Formats: sequence, C-alpha cells, structure tokens
Amino acid sequence: MDAPRAQADPAFRADVLAGLAAPIPAIPARWLYDRRGSELFEKITELPEYYPTRTERALLERHCADVARIAGKGDAVIEFGSGSSTKTPILLRAVAPAAYVPIDISGDFLRDAAAALQADFPGLPIHPVEGDFTKPIALPDAVAGLSKLGFFPGSTIGNLVPRTAVDLLRAMKATLGSGAYLLIGMDRLKDVDVLARAYDDAAGVTAEFNLNLLHRINAELNGTIPAEAFRHRAIWNDKASRIEMHLEALRDVEFTIEGQPFAFKAGETIHTENSHKYGLRDSRLLLRAAGWGVTEEWTDEADQFALILAVAEPPRFAP
Ligand code: AVJ
Repeated sequence: MDAPRAQADPAFRADVLAGLAAPIPAIPARWLYDRRGSELFEKITELPEYYPTRTERALLERHCADVARIAGKGDAVIEFGSGSSTKTPILLRAVAPAAYVPIDISGDFLRDAAAALQADFPGLPIHPVEGDFTKPIALPDAVAGLSKLGFFPGSTIGNLVPRTAVDLLRAMKATLGSGAYLLIGMDRLKDVDVLARAYDDAAGVTAEFNLNLLHRINAELNGTIPAEAFRHRAIWNDKASRIEMHLEALRDVEFTIEGQPFAFKAGETIHTENSHKYGLRDSRLLLRAAGWGVTEEWTDEADQFALILAVAEPPRFAP
C-alpha cells in the first residue's frame, strides 16, 4: 500500500511529468532520496556487495593526516552537502579546522547535521549555509581570511554526467577561490560483475530503493502506477562509463499521474540514476577540465575507490 498523500513539491511534479513524457523516459536521481529512499540508501551502504562507503571511510581514516599535512591544519573545511555523519568527523579530527561550513540545499538536513556535529566538536565554530552549491556561493565572513579545504565525499560526483560534473567542480572552485584544496571521493572503473552486484544486491535493497520512486510518485502526485509491474535493472553503459539504474516494465502498463495518462510497453524503461566510474586518468582529466590540479591520489589495495586531493589552480597563460 502507498502512504497517504503528502504535500507535493512542484519541482518533483514538473520533473516527473516531463521526464515520463520524454523520448527516453528519465527522472532526475535526486527524487530517489525522500525519507524512505534515504533510509534505504543507508541500508545500501551497509551491504556486503556495496564496497564504496566502507572503502572510502577506510581511505579517510588512513589518509586524513596526510590531507592535514598538505592542505594545512586550522583551515576552514567547507563540505558540499551536509551530514555524511560518519565521514566528516574523521576529516575534522585530523584537520582540526578553525571553522566548518556545511552547505546544503535542505535547511532541515543542514541544521540536524550541524547540531549533531556540534555535540561531538563543542569548540568548533560551525557556519551552516543553506544554498545550491551547483552555483558559486558567498562563504560566511567568518572564514574570509582562512585557507579553504573543500570536502565532497561519497562519489556523489558520479551521479552527474561529465558536462554537469565539470560545471559543478568549476562552481566549487569559484566558491573556494584559487589556492584552495578539494578532497573528493570518486568511484573507480572496475570489473563489470563487481559493479553489477553492487547495484543489484542479493537482498534486494537496491531494487527496493529504486522502486520506492514509484511509490513516492503514487503517494505525492496522485499516481496509479502498478509498482509490481516494474522491476529494478542495473545496466552497465560502457561508452558512457557508468552504471545506470532503470525501472523496466514487465508487461504493457497504463497509468495516470495527476490525471495525465502514460503508457509503457513491456521492456521499456524509466532511467532513474547514473553512477559514473572513473579510471585514474579519467578522474584527473575531469578535475583538470574544471581548473583543479591533482595533488595526491589515494586508493585501496584493490583500486576500487579513489580519494583525491586537488588544488584550485590560479589562472595562467597556457603556452
Ligand atoms: C549516492 C550516488 C554515490 O551511485 O553509488 C547506490 C547511489 N544508487 N546504489 C552511487 C546509489 C544505488 C550512490 N551515490
């Protein structure tokens, strides 16, 4: 059963109606993360098949002292997206920053995460900024004189197609300024079977996470989608170097959303998420395309995940 109807977000409505009517039906991945979706994603991060979270955490534990040595202790740490609650403290303990600035579009998330961190770091000045970090953002005056260390863990960059990823990395550079450092997590290119298992786990949690989007549409947008007529698919797109999540119709289906009719033939899909994977030189090129020079790269033994420290290069004449 779907939950009772919640308040509909107009942007969600617009994305779903336009996305399902598009020639290649797709819904932006951010709509996967309602309360239930966020809970399910937390469960994904604990699955045996889902290596990224634990691998990145181990890399942070191993190398944040190096980050502090290179980028400097007592910096201002600027986190893009707030509340990677288990990862942020590892960095903050090592860097002992003079201030911490979490930036997030969701004010509620931001305040909860800031309050939780403040309890663990009572002496740390925290300046939350509610805003869209895909655009350059004015940082609080309190950090104006400090050197900056940006933090963007979780391979969230992998959600974006390269063109948009470069736009985002450029905006981060504009926000942080020349000479700033960025500590970013990127998932590596690897054996396709390992990827397939990570995005289609045996316990079916990723399937539930993906299918939850249909329940959300039904609940918030007055939809009649028969969720049992769709199945989760994780597909490797080699040319685009990414795992794609799709919802595939198991039979011909018709339904309405906010009264508008939609029809899917058996085998047709709704594309719901991209997770790009980057080889060593791919990640370097992506960063360089946005004006970031790679300073250090740390990976695990199996080269599954990369933790990269980059520096915002000052403008210069290219020969
Ligand atoms: C949160 C975007 C990093 O791409 O690995 C996990 C999301 N989707 N399993 C990822 C996700 C399905 C995750 N990111």
